[in-house]
Amino acid sequence: MATRKIINYTDSILRKKTKPVVDFDNSLHILLDDMAETLEKARGAGLAAPQVGVLRAVCIIDVNNHFYEFVNPKIVSRSESTNVYDEGCLSIKDDNGKSIYYPVERNNRVTVEAQNRFGENIKVKLKGFAARAAQHEIDHLDGILFLDHVKNLPDKN
Ligand code: CO
Repeated sequence: MATRKIINYTDSILRKKTKPVVDFDNSLHILLDDMAETLEKARGAGLAAPQVGVLRAVCIIDVNNHFYEFVNPKIVSRSESTNVYDEGCLSIKDDNGKSIYYPVERNNRVTVEAQNRFGENIKVKLKGFAARAAQHEIDHLDGILFLDHVKNLPDKN
């Protein structure tokens, strides 16, 4: 395993849509293993493949000692209820390299359908911070950043 460099949001690669994974081969497993090591080192709650420069629909979540690997994930249902909480991103740091946080509204619960690293279908119901992390990471796969959801974002001049 190896850590990979986490790309900053100023790089346009984070605005691109990912392509689905079709080969569940060793290169996918290496990517997932490297992402896990990178996430652990960065002490984050989740990481999406575009953040390490790979435009494939792959993300991982590590919340409350629960670790998830999602390949080709889709959110298939969401609770109507929402909550607003400060959110950050390993790719969004200020000039001093410190994470910045803004409140974002997310659904309280989501159901994710995805594949695991072997191409088997999985379905996971998530709530609370894990649900928030899943919404955040799956957004990354569509080139969406949490800043896009922030209301009244301060002017960054
Ligand atoms: Co992020």
